[in-house]
Amino acid sequence: MNMKRNLLFAFVLLFFLSAQAKEGMWVPTLLDKYNMDEMQQMGFKLTAEDIYSINQNSMKDAVVIFGKGCTGELISNEGLLLTNHHCGLSVIQSHSSIEHDYLTDGFWAMSKEEELPNPDLTAKFLQEMIDVTDSVMLGTDDLKGEKLLDKIQDNIFSIQIAASDSGKLEAVVKPLFHGNQYFLYTYKVYRDVRLVGAPPSAIGKFGGDTDNWMWPRHTGDFSIFRVYADKNNEPAGYSEDNVPYQPKKFFPISIGGIKPDDFIMIMGYPGSTDQYLPSHGVDLIVNQSNPDKVKIRTKKLEVLEKHMNADPEVRIKYASKYARTSNSWKRWQGEIKGLKRMNAIERKQDFEEKFKVWYSSNDSLQQRYGNVLSNFEKFYMDLYAFNRAYNYYEEAIFGGTDIFKLAAMFPRRTKAWGKLGESHRTYFSEALLESISDHFEDYDLETDEEVFVELLRLFHNDLSRSFLPEGFIETMQKFDNEKLRTRIYRKSVLANEEKLSEMVRKLNMKNLKKIHKDPVFKLYNELRGHYMRNVDVVYHGVKGELEKVQQLYMEGIQSMMEDEKLYPDANFTLRVAYGKVEGYKPRDAVSYKHFTTLKGIMKKDDPTVYDYNVPQKLRDLYKEKDYGTYQEEDYMPVAFIASVHTTGGNSGSPAINADGELVGLNFDRCWEGTMSDIMFDPDQCRNIMLDVRYVLFIIDKFAGAGYLIDEMQLVD
Ligand code: ARG
Ligand code: GLU
Repeated sequence: MNMKRNLLFAFVLLFFLSAQAKEGMWVPTLLDKYNMDEMQQMGFKLTAEDIYSINQNSMKDAVVIFGKGCTGELISNEGLLLTNHHCGLSVIQSHSSIEHDYLTDGFWAMSKEEELPNPDLTAKFLQEMIDVTDSVMLGTDDLKGEKLLDKIQDNIFSIQIAASDSGKLEAVVKPLFHGNQYFLYTYKVYRDVRLVGAPPSAIGKFGGDTDNWMWPRHTGDFSIFRVYADKNNEPAGYSEDNVPYQPKKFFPISIGGIKPDDFIMIMGYPGSTDQYLPSHGVDLIVNQSNPDKVKIRTKKLEVLEKHMNADPEVRIKYASKYARTSNSWKRWQGEIKGLKRMNAIERKQDFEEKFKVWYSSNDSLQQRYGNVLSNFEKFYMDLYAFNRAYNYYEEAIFGGTDIFKLAAMFPRRTKAWGKLGESHRTYFSEALLESISDHFEDYDLETDEEVFVELLRLFHNDLSRSFLPEGFIETMQKFDNEKLRTRIYRKSVLANEEKLSEMVRKLNMKNLKKIHKDPVFKLYNELRGHYMRNVDVVYHGVKGELEKVQQLYMEGIQSMMEDEKLYPDANFTLRVAYGKVEGYKPRDAVSYKHFTTLKGIMKKDDPTVYDYNVPQKLRDLYKEKDYGTYQEEDYMPVAFIASVHTTGGNSGSPAINADGELVGLNFDRCWEGTMSDIMFDPDQCRNIMLDVRYVLFIIDKFAGAGYLIDEMQLVD
């Protein structure tokens, strides 16, 4: 190796691997190759086969995709499943009403008969993951552009069909390393998953959105479900005849606790990361996307909060919506801070310099990668204005106001509708009726209309004229906020469940035309049309070009760093991440311990503040120090942190110790580390887990559901 190369590798090592042990979300089938030595050095006592195997039962058989975007794990031989309270939130909410307010009071089934079924909830068990890159790329050698993409799509489709075992399995092919590799994943999907228990929000969401994304933390963020199967232990829709699922593997639970430097492994489904973004992409996030999105959501959250505080019914209806809106809103702000603190843009630029040095050293590399950086520059510049418009449309129009989401469900073309056969129309009307009923279940007119008015105003004021339809500009100039409310929102049939359902029950041409004349529908359609013509095409066109450049850049990085280990960006597939239990120093003179306690909850206790109102029963248990066998010395542990690389989707993931036992439940990251989706800082990035002993304490002592503990396998 020559001098230049040596220097380069030293740098590359520093850049990507300074995090060594901690950074990275690794592919379970490649642990032996990349990670096992290091994991064992750090204390892990088992093998790669114990984590992922297709020959024997392994941890992968106990870790599931819970619902649409979370992880869960099996903790008993009778299908008991542990995940976060915030992952179960919409389910808990759906069973809640003013009379049975499980959000506020918690819910505990005292026998299997009392468990609550959930029609749309699933638990997906991974059967196998296979590298199918060669099959995906089969016959693509001479193809380019659209033809290439089509062929790849065709191949993926055939692979999925073949792997689905006539529909018995869900089979998905997903790209890794930005399309430089493809993996097939097959899942068995269990469809009868029942709610077993959830603590009151005052425990499960303690600290609420105030403490979200922060350490020190005291949120008892867990809920418990049970997976049911048919008599053959196979998936089945809900039925009284179903029986508890017997997993191939479940986690034993350690009540031995954790201490600093302990090995911790998180196994789960991280959703998405962008570790290989170029400097221009980071710039766009820090200086445009995140600030824009934060600004819009700040407004929306203000309105929601006002109405939720004023009316307990609105509080229940909007609990889940508020949490969802607030969660990314807060993370985006932390991300900006963290990326700035890390000088992420400069660091990326430095890396790009090295990349240039590398490809310039050789003609054929120069040929292949010589345009990557200038293309990034060009396309990111093209994207700039459209990216702002895209975010404003997404945040303020399509995803901001409930009534617009409802408007989006109606057919826009009367001609096409007219050509549909009778049975199709009936089918469509019925589906629409169901969506309408779902929509109104979690809807409050006064809340949504204020969101509508405020977001439209922001949208109109901030976006340059070319992105706004003329008619809309006129309306916004002519109408003040009060008129937007009375002349548009209140005049809309979309704000009236009864009338709307009546029309949809007979969704004939006459009624459809009426809806097309509705003031909210008209406004929506006008905005959408303008968006489709003036934003969507260019935005997605440029995005598509950028993806191609990113794929080539990724390929280059992989080849430049071929002697190093790289991990693929998260893509909601099973990954293993590991690190150590450790505190951190968030700023000068401040040092955070690695764990929190029940005493800390009592210190935050404040009956006048919704997020900090501790349930009386918990106060009593604290006073009597009635901790059962779950305490540490003389205190009750609550949460702890480790230097493990995690992201959204990892919620509910098992925190596993060196012996393969469950010691915690992942639920968050700390504030100073929220930029880890883009750049990981080993000094500041910590994942936050619930100490499993607190979970057991709440189940046993607080809820009196100790019978559940009897099902589990506790080890000391
Ligand atoms: N921040 C955690 C995660 O990203 C917890 C979210 C819970 N939701 C909330 N708004 N507090 O999902
Ligand atoms: N709370 C996140 C989730 O729902 C996990 C925290 C994170 O983003 O790291 O998946």
